[in-house]
Amino acid sequence: MIASAARYHNLDEMARVYAAAHPTCNIVNVGCGLETMFWRVGSDAPGAWFYEMDLPEVIEVRRRILGAPERDELIAGDAFDLSWADGINTSQPTLIIVSGVFQYFHNADVLGFIADAKKVFSDAELVFDATNTKGLEYVNKYVKKTGNSAALMYCAIDDPAEFAREADCELLEVRPFYTAARRILKGKVNLYSKVAMAIADRTSRAFLLHTKL
Ligand SMILES: C[S@@+](CC[C@H](N)C(=O)[O-])C[C@H]1O[C@@H](n2cnc3c(N)ncnc32)[C@H](O)[C@@H]1O
Repeated sequence: MIASAARYHNLDEMARVYAAAHPTCNIVNVGCGLETMFWRVGSDAPGAWFYEMDLPEVIEVRRRILGAPERDELIAGDAFDLSWADGINTSQPTLIIVSGVFQYFHNADVLGFIADAKKVFSDAELVFDATNTKGLEYVNKYVKKTGNSAALMYCAIDDPAEFAREADCELLEVRPFYTAARRILKGKVNLYSKVAMAIADRTSRAFLLHTKL
């Protein structure tokens, strides 16, 4: 739960900074699920148009539960078929956020997504969360224990700079997941969580990769 909260805390902050620097922009949540960034960040980013994209069956559930407020458009599709972007003004500055999604795919899929997004969006940045090989081993052990073999993870990034070179994009930031959480939660979490967060940060087991496409 702390991992999820830390991820949203960082992504909200990155979206706020992006919207402040680009007063008219798109913020696209790919594989949005029931993520509620719009309600946390939307009022701080009045010139940003939010898009929430996910598989059709997920968008249907999202529409039923969260509705579709103005300035927060729902798009049903497959993330890896960029025709989902057809209704977006792709010449506008765009922040693409992919949170909790790429891990379930292979590195080649992620590189393919980036190559296609570079063709479709003329001025975009991409932020996604990633795990290295060690982190992936740890997480997959945990996932196997739950018995959900459909949730195994495959994409591992051990060298973000090398990955960015391979993807032919500029690496803007590699942000450890828990730096802010460790500061905010100082004295409020047990020793296990404290140590686990410090190890994850120090060994790059969970980080956010921010690139310019
Ligand atoms: C672990 S959830 C993360 C949800 C949300 N981004 C968050 O951070 O809370 C993964 C999401 O990716 C979506 N997803 C998986 N494969 C997808 C695909 N090919 N295209 C679009 N969305 C996909 C799932 O439906 C699910 O909503």
